[in-house]
Amino acid sequence: MTSANAANRLIAHYLGTARRLPWRRLPGQGAPDPYAVWLSEVMLQQTTVAAVAPRFERFLDRWPTIEALAAAPDEEILSEWAGLGYYARARNLIACAREVARLGRFPETEAELRRLPGIGDYTAAAVAAIAFGERTAVVDTNVRRVVARLKGAVAPSDADIRAWVLAMTPAERPGDLAQAMMDLGATICRPKGPLCGQCPLVSHCLAATSGDPERFPAPKLKSSRPQRFGTVYWIERQDCVWLVRRPPSGLLGGMAALPGSDWNDAPSTQPPLARVRHVFTHFALDLAVVAAAEPGGEGWWQPLDAIDQAGLPTLYRKAVDAVLASAERRAAA
Ligand code: ADE
Ligand code: SF4
Repeated sequence: MTSANAANRLIAHYLGTARRLPWRRLPGQGAPDPYAVWLSEVMLQQTTVAAVAPRFERFLDRWPTIEALAAAPDEEILSEWAGLGYYARARNLIACAREVARLGRFPETEAELRRLPGIGDYTAAAVAAIAFGERTAVVDTNVRRVVARLKGAVAPSDADIRAWVLAMTPAERPGDLAQAMMDLGATICRPKGPLCGQCPLVSHCLAATSGDPERFPAPKLKSSRPQRFGTVYWIERQDCVWLVRRPPSGLLGGMAALPGSDWNDAPSTQPPLARVRHVFTHFALDLAVVAAAEPGGEGWWQPLDAIDQAGLPTLYRKAVDAVLASAERRAAA
């Protein structure tokens, strides 16, 4: 089967089974809004479709256009992003929105999109193909796995993958093929236990023919994460807790936080109220929450019954929840 035949089959399957996602437009539904495509692709980097869908809709209700987003204060956008993780993405999102607003429109080619702040190879290709119909290879981890299996390749290079994907990509609505590949990778051609019996591409898939499709592609070697330690202070007064804003750059830059040390400490020797562990891309953090009496520097008293509105990223939210749970445990004891 030629690549074009495989693509036609996959797109036909997609039309019948496509996940209805709020940023998507299926054939017959017209072209999607580039702003919605860009926003969804940024949110979907490292965050699952299930987690993104409701957050995407809230974001779009609050800022329906890129001009509205560009005009919003950083703090409001970062708070709305809270819980989605990878906050450098949110800061890049703000920079990109302002640049697009300044230009007066979204650039429409992959090459121009690539020059916007925070837009990497994947996002430029995805927005160009899905929003503007440019015939280009859109390669994420799902797509890489699907084509490596089709070709029976254990360790394909990025250039191989791009060439194979491009050969499958039609000139008409190339974004449908991209999203069909993503859906196939997410639902049928799964990392573990691919459902080849339900796959529209099974008749010409070399990995399926091999009888052990899971072997393709071989996993990339993971580097182990260093362990770091940090301390944060729990300063409570009249059902409020003292919060601060982190410095604008660096990890969790600009986000609301519990006050604390940087994360290069030796493990804390003070007995903690609670401990939380959190895994970032490049290290694992063991955070001790210790009681302190007096706030210092700039910050604010956040009512504990309105902690949801503080815009705390997951790390600090886990710390707050752990302290509250331990206080409850003590009260119940
Ligand atoms: N993951 C990244 N982009 C996606 C999209 N457009 N549809 C589904 N999953 C995705
Ligand atoms: Fe993946 Fe199996 Fe389909 Fe091949 S036949 S693409 S291994 S699900």
